[in-house]
Amino acid sequence: MRTTTTTVPHVKTVLPGPKAKAIIERDGRVVSPSYTRDYPFVIAKGEGAVVEDVDGNVFLDCTAGIAVTSTGHSHPEVVRAIVEQAQTFLHMSGTDFYYERQVRLAEELSAIAPMPGPHRSFFGNSGTEANEAALKLAKYYTKRHGIIAFYGAFHGRTMGSLSVTASKVAQRRGFAPMVPGVYHAPYPDPYRAPAGASPEACAAEALRFIEQQLFVHLVPPDEIAAVIVEPIQGEGGYIVPPHAFLQQLRELTTRYGILLVVDEVQSGMGRTGRMFAVEHAGVEPDIVTIGKGIASGLPLGVATARADVMSWPPGSHASTFGGNPVACAAALATIRLLREGVMKNAEVVGAHLLEGLRGLMEKHALVGDVRGRGLMIGLELVRDRQTKERATDERNALVRGCFERGLLVLGAGRNAIRLSPPLVLTRQQADTAVEILDQALGAISPR
Ligand SMILES: Cc1ncc(COP(=O)(O)O)c(C=O)c1O
Repeated sequence: MRTTTTTVPHVKTVLPGPKAKAIIERDGRVVSPSYTRDYPFVIAKGEGAVVEDVDGNVFLDCTAGIAVTSTGHSHPEVVRAIVEQAQTFLHMSGTDFYYERQVRLAEELSAIAPMPGPHRSFFGNSGTEANEAALKLAKYYTKRHGIIAFYGAFHGRTMGSLSVTASKVAQRRGFAPMVPGVYHAPYPDPYRAPAGASPEACAAEALRFIEQQLFVHLVPPDEIAAVIVEPIQGEGGYIVPPHAFLQQLRELTTRYGILLVVDEVQSGMGRTGRMFAVEHAGVEPDIVTIGKGIASGLPLGVATARADVMSWPPGSHASTFGGNPVACAAALATIRLLREGVMKNAEVVGAHLLEGLRGLMEKHALVGDVRGRGLMIGLELVRDRQTKERATDERNALVRGCFERGLLVLGAGRNAIRLSPPLVLTRQQADTAVEILDQALGAISPR
């Protein structure tokens, strides 16, 4: 798609251009209005970290379709694997039959899982299905019914996952009652720790809440099946907790016979420079849930568990399409590419991007915090660095301003933007992203 003479980005029409506008108008008549579109981007094609819209405008993509196209848009080796499998057979259902690619993917997942084996994997089609499977499995295995999750968490939108999600009220409004037996605890946010408190003290406070509030006033620990946690909160604002939080959570869950479910749907598959973000803290979960980047854009969700935990009998859980052979082929190619250098690139280019973005803090008072690991980076915007008043309108304006300058980013939380580009982003593209953010920030006047 790109020629050496094409500059990236290159916006040549008013946005949206005429073709994009026409498609958006049709969409408005027939597609569910529940989707949240922050700006009118209508893709025509993509390659690596570059996408072109239907009017020929070229954008640098720092969203990867919400952290999905891990090896870049339409990586040739992923496409080859998909085509080969598609030409062989499209579907047979791993629920009722066997095919070797699903077995091989389970073997590969066992090789990269963040806890010692043996393991078993359950295949679904999305992140929310991976979490549904994990929650059901935890209940089945422990014969307990309670689940602890965290404020700010996003685990998906089907009823089980939605019940543990505590991100935005709009996601829950009108859908009560939720699945019973779910309790929420604070998630440690080092940037918003009480004045003078260290990140570790902030982590200890969250753990104390579970032991001194939940376990004293609301539910005995022996009724809790699992704690589900994002090692870096994604939709919640790309919040990176101190290592001590995950380490102490592991200790607490082990002490009470509670399973630790780590939701790596957004943070996993090399995004943070390690295969799974929980590895940075040296923590071994009982179940890890995986989605988004695992198949570079094909729908796949997996719950991988310790083999002794995944002991449910035939018929207890399954999915017609889960672990579709084409998605498995894409995942196998993705894992190989991650191992062969793409994950390393996320670490190296991620560090470079983080440094460039931290430089913006010196010029723009609006940027209160820059944080992240690898290519999972958040910028939190505030109206005042002392009070940390959330700059939500300014964040929305920044997302839009970047789009108009040819950079795709998404919001996260109430006042952060996230950069979750394909993991093949180059240093030069990272520099371009920083330049555009610099210009777009310069055009925003804090209220
Ligand atoms: C951490 C996390 N878990 C689960 C999900 C749900 O994934 P899906 O939209 O594929 O159901 C998401 C999606 O954003 C996520 O970020």
